[in-house]
Amino acid sequence: MTHPVLAALGLKDNESGTYLGHGEWATTADAGVLEPINPTDGEVLARVQASSQRDYDTIVERAQAAFKVWRTTPAPRRGEAIRLCADALRKHKDALGSLVALEMGKSKPEGDGEVQEMIDIGDFAVGLSRQLYGLTMHSERPGHRMYEQWHPLGLVGIISAFNFPVAVWAWNSFIAAICGDISIWKPSPKTPLSAVASMKICNDALRAGGFPDLFFLFNDAGTELASNFVDDKRIALVSFTGSTKVGRHVGERVARRMGRSLLELGGNNAIIVDATADLKLAIPAIVFGAVGTAGQRCTTTRRLFVHESIYDEVLAKLVTAYKQVEKKIGDPTDPANLMGPLNSQDGVQAYLDAIAKAKAAGGKVETGGERIDRKGNFVLPAIVTGLSNDAEVVQTETFAPILYVMKFKQLDEAVDLQNDVPQGLSSSIFTANLKAAEAFLSAAGSDCGIANVNIGTSGAEIGGAFGGEKETGGGRESGSDAWRAYMRRQTNTINYSDALPLAQGIKFDL
Ligand code: UN1
Repeated sequence: MTHPVLAALGLKDNESGTYLGHGEWATTADAGVLEPINPTDGEVLARVQASSQRDYDTIVERAQAAFKVWRTTPAPRRGEAIRLCADALRKHKDALGSLVALEMGKSKPEGDGEVQEMIDIGDFAVGLSRQLYGLTMHSERPGHRMYEQWHPLGLVGIISAFNFPVAVWAWNSFIAAICGDISIWKPSPKTPLSAVASMKICNDALRAGGFPDLFFLFNDAGTELASNFVDDKRIALVSFTGSTKVGRHVGERVARRMGRSLLELGGNNAIIVDATADLKLAIPAIVFGAVGTAGQRCTTTRRLFVHESIYDEVLAKLVTAYKQVEKKIGDPTDPANLMGPLNSQDGVQAYLDAIAKAKAAGGKVETGGERIDRKGNFVLPAIVTGLSNDAEVVQTETFAPILYVMKFKQLDEAVDLQNDVPQGLSSSIFTANLKAAEAFLSAAGSDCGIANVNIGTSGAEIGGAFGGEKETGGGRESGSDAWRAYMRRQTNTINYSDALPLAQGIKFDL
C-alpha cells in the first residue's frame, strides 16, 4: 500500500525520477532503481526509476532550448513564475513537510520549516527579480558612458544532499530562474521522493501559469551520470552541497573545464559561551544547534567552548536538557517529537565510530553515545568532554548529534580554538559583553562565513548569503547578492562624442 504521506502528494509506489520537460516524465525502467529507505523502520518507502544517458541528453537539449527563450524574458516576468511556485508550495507545505520528515528523518516542524525556507526564498526571488542591479561608473574619457549589466549565465546544475532535500534546491533554482537561467537537479539518492514531489508541485504551477520549463530533474542509480554532469561543458555553473571530500573533486573537475562552481561543504561549527552569557538563551540554542535534525545540518553545533567559571553549571544544564530530549526521540512525522532517526545506517555507523574514537582518545561521554534498541536508525544525542580541540575526532565533521565540550580561560584563546579547524561555515558567541561580541565579529575574530551573537550556529535565514570559508568551499547562496553567481557580468562603454580618445591617455595618431 502506498504510504499515506506519499499518497497525500499524489505519489505512487513506483515513480519516474526524470522530468524531461514539456510536462513529460520519462518511462525509463532499465537504468536502475532508487529505493529510499524509511529511516524510522528500515523499510523501502517506494521505488524511483533512475535516469538513462538518453534521458540526460534530452534534458540538456531541452534546457538549452528553454534558456534561449527564458534569457530574454524580462526579469520581473521571471519573478512572476517564481511567485506561482511559492504560492503552490504554500498550499502543499504540510504535505511536503511531512514527506521531508518521513524520507529524510528530520522532525515534522523542521520538515515544515524546510518548506517554509522554499517559500521564503521564492518571495525573496520575486522581489529580487526587480533588483538585479549593475553599477554605473564615470568614464575617464569625455563623451563616454560606462556601466555594467548582469546577463543570464545559462544552465545551472544543482547537486543537493539528503539533509536538506528540498530547500537547497529552491535556494538555487528559484534564484537561478529569476536570473534567467534554467536549472537541472540531481538530488541525493537517499531522498529522491522529496525531489520528485517538489518538481511536481513547482512544474505544475509553472505549466498552469503558461510558463516554460525552468526546472529539470534526473536521478542517478550509480555515479556515472552525475560525474558526466560535473564534466559537462554545457552546464555553466555547478552548485554542489555535500561533503568536503566529494566537493573538492567537483570543484577541481569543474575548474579544469573553466566552468563555475558554487561549493557548500562541511562545517565544524562552534559556540563560545563567555562568563557573562545569558544561559536562558545559550542552553536552548546549544541543544537545538547540536541535536536539531539529529546533528545532520552542515550548520550543526559540533564544538562548545565554555568559560571555566561557568563550565560545570553549563555542562550540568546541558546534560539535564539532553535527558529531556531523549524522551522525545521517535517517529519524525509525529509533531510531538524533537528528534528523529539518522537518515541512514551509514550515519549510525559513523556516529558509533566517532564515539569509539573519542573514547579511545581519552574523551568522556557525559550522556548518550549509544544507538537506541528499536527499529530504524535511532541514536542518543551525545556530549563528550575531556578532548582537546586538536583531537582528530574533534577536527572531523561527523554528521550526527555529537557535541564536544571544552573549557577556556581567555576569550582570544577560545576564538583561536574555534577557528582552528579545516572548515569555516558557522560560529557563534553568547555574551552580554559588547567588547567580546565585537571582537568575535571583527577581522581578528571568527573566520567563518556566518558569525552570530546570542543565537546558535544553525537555522540561518534565507535573506543572508549562506556559505563558508576554507574547506567549506567558499560558495555563497540564498540571499544578499548571492544571485551574482548565477549571472555573467558585462562591462559596457559607450562613446557618444565625435572623437575617439583612448584610455590611459594613449596617443595613436595615424
Ligand atoms: C545545510 O545543512 O546544508 O542554517 C543547510 C541552516 C539551514 C540550512 C542548512 N537554514 O541550518
